Amino acid sequence: MSGREGDAVRELTRLVEARIGHVVPDRNLPFLEEAVRRRVAKLGLSCVEAYVARLSEREDVAEWEELLRLVLVHESYLFRGRRQLEVLVEAFLPDLVEARREARSLAFWSAGCSRGEEAVTLAVLLADRPELDGWDWRILATDVDSRILEEARSGLYEGRAVREVPAAVLARFFVRLGEERYRVRPEILARIEYRELNLVKEPLDPPGAPFDAILIRNVLIYFRPESQRRVVEAMAGLVAPHGIVVPGPSESLWQIVDSLRPVESHGIYFYRPRSASPVPDRTDGKGNGGRNPGQERSVVSGRRLTSPGVDRKRGTTAPLRNPGRARSKPQEPPCCPDGVGVRDAVEALVSGRFEEARTVLAELASGGDAPAMVHALDGLLAELLGEPPGTSVRAYRRVLFLEPGWFQVRLLLADLLWATGDRRRAAVEYRRVLREAGMAGTVPFWNVLGLPDRAAAREHARARLRPDQERP
Ligand SMILES: C[S@@+](CC[C@H](N)C(=O)[O-])C[C@H]1O[C@@H](n2cnc3c(N)ncnc32)[C@H](O)[C@@H]1O
Repeated sequence: MSGREGDAVRELTRLVEARIGHVVPDRNLPFLEEAVRRRVAKLGLSCVEAYVARLSEREDVAEWEELLRLVLVHESYLFRGRRQLEVLVEAFLPDLVEARREARSLAFWSAGCSRGEEAVTLAVLLADRPELDGWDWRILATDVDSRILEEARSGLYEGRAVREVPAAVLARFFVRLGEERYRVRPEILARIEYRELNLVKEPLDPPGAPFDAILIRNVLIYFRPESQRRVVEAMAGLVAPHGIVVPGPSESLWQIVDSLRPVESHGIYFYRPRSASPVPDRTDGKGNGGRNPGQERSVVSGRRLTSPGVDRKRGTTAPLRNPGRARSKPQEPPCCPDGVGVRDAVEALVSGRFEEARTVLAELASGGDAPAMVHALDGLLAELLGEPPGTSVRAYRRVLFLEPGWFQVRLLLADLLWATGDRRRAAVEYRRVLREAGMAGTVPFWNVLGLPDRAAAREHARARLRPDQERP
């Protein structure tokens, strides 16, 4: 994208970011340019620059709504990240109930709620809890997009949005309107208040604070670190001292602000105001008062950033050959807001927390087409776990289909083929490494993962292609 129109669209993305914090990735610019051209024609404007001027010079609420539609990501579904919400209710609800015993009321906030998928899932889980019988519990669900809130208020869900909902839950809490088409029952909908609210507009003052739990799943990943910090800092002040902040299962907040501390329950991280006292981890889900504070683990203090003591069994490219590097946090690629979850996966991988890495990667892939980096990490993880080479070969081939220039992945693939005895195909890949490593792109976090740089990759490929090496 170049020229005056390209510049105008980039200026538009700056306006969007200043208004709602959302960073439009470069890969979406051609789509945005096309869509904006259609708006320009519809409004009878002369050019894209005139459209940008119109939005920057006056408060055109209706047109902003149109534009936000084009850039925001509303992807979600009911019972997404189900385990996380179940753990929230099983492990933390008893404490919240204890803290609010006198008032007999609880306040939850789902921030950046989209069509209310997270709020409805939480409401359904809470509706089943006997200890909340007769309690006044409510969920405030907010979003910057007024139109998506209209859809949320309708309580209608269909297709993909309902596929993960257990049949028993559908039968109890939803009215069936047709094939994969349901409406939430009014008693559940009545617990949720939908409201328009822009998280980056200061001051952040949602009604009903302090909250017993704030859920902010898959929203901050679209913001730059500075906006993330401001929002999370404000949330730390809006959550009750006994309360918790809940990002998406693959997101972490502890690098963002000091005022929240991570606590782990059942392998999932939640965040508490730093001043709060430790909370027990209850595994029976009955809220029987059985405190077991030893099970709560501070992620910061309990973190393992040393060598996992595992290395690849095959091949010689030796990713993770220097896992100590992971002591310095993997830096998010500057242009890549999606890098937040990926960074967590990388960190889990190089720290030897393979189960966690697998969970994060599964979550990152759950929204549909997984990005190349997720496949790359899947392949590495399979190798580290000693899974059959075919698993990693398939993962690396997917990467190279999406990112043919990632020479480090090509080298990993070549090494695997070599190790399995397929020297002919390995040689083809080594030759491509030699041809392309000089100009191709590098894998994000390659140095943290211990992958070779260009010179080392070529050197290794060259060595493998020596005549005496090519014969098995
Ligand atoms: C991917 S959806 C996540 C929805 C929900 N949290 C979930 O996980 O089910 C992201 C949502 O954040 C909202 N959002 C983005 N920027 C926002 C802002 N500045 N203030 C409030 N909501 C915002 C978007 O409109 C979108 O509905």
